Amino acid sequence: MGKRKIIVHIAASADGYIARPDGNVAWLTNRPAPKGFYGLPKFMRTVDAKILGRKTFDLSVKMGANFSANDVHYVFSRQPPPPSVPVGVRFVTEPIRAFAKQMRAQPGKNMWMMGGGELIASFLDEGAIDEFINLTITCGKRLDDTAQTVEAEHTFATGCQGYWFPSPYWLG
Ligand SMILES: NC(=O)c1ccc[n+]([C@@H]2O[C@H](COP(=O)([O-])OP(=O)(O)OC[C@H]3O[C@@H](n4cnc5c(N)ncnc54)[C@H](OP(=O)(O)O)[C@@H]3O)[C@@H](O)[C@H]2O)c1
Repeated sequence: MGKRKIIVHIAASADGYIARPDGNVAWLTNRPAPKGFYGLPKFMRTVDAKILGRKTFDLSVKMGANFSANDVHYVFSRQPPPPSVPVGVRFVTEPIRAFAKQMRAQPGKNMWMMGGGELIASFLDEGAIDEFINLTITCGKRLDDTAQTVEAEHTFATGCQGYWFPSPYWLG
């Protein structure tokens, strides 16, 4: 088995946004689900833990996410953890670099860095991201011919298209 990796898997608009200014992601979640759902179920079989910023965690709770002991969610926050958290959720206070070193050394599947942007930036600063997988939602004509790198493509009812880029680049 290879080294355990921390992989960002995130959806962004063509102009690089992951949420509206008020945090709303309906532009993403309200789209019709394409066959294979962008390869997400396949990707999820390759991970056994998730990493989230506290704001993304709060939003996940609000949206009714399921948590369980078999699916550990590591939530980063600089604040004291709330008095009670769902089973399988662990608030992390240790420095990112030490956390990443410890996690990468553990046997296991890869870890899904879910975001948001602030936590991903912090991980990038600490050299704690191994790989990016990015779903870009865009409308209209393509900027360039990316057909060779597209694994799955879906044209939405809105006329927007989702392009699934399998690991367009690696870090480290
Ligand atoms: N499009 C997508 O695929 C996607 C995926 C994920 C999230 N999102 C969206 O992104 C938005 C949230 O992203 P965001 O960038 O605003 O916030 P975020 O990264 O989810 O969370 C930020 C919080 O994480 C904690 N944090 C950040 N850096 C840290 C560090 N170095 N050490 C310890 N804790 C740290 C802090 O929590 P405290 O304030 O508690 O200290 C900070 O306020 C939401 O609207 C969500 O819906 C979209």
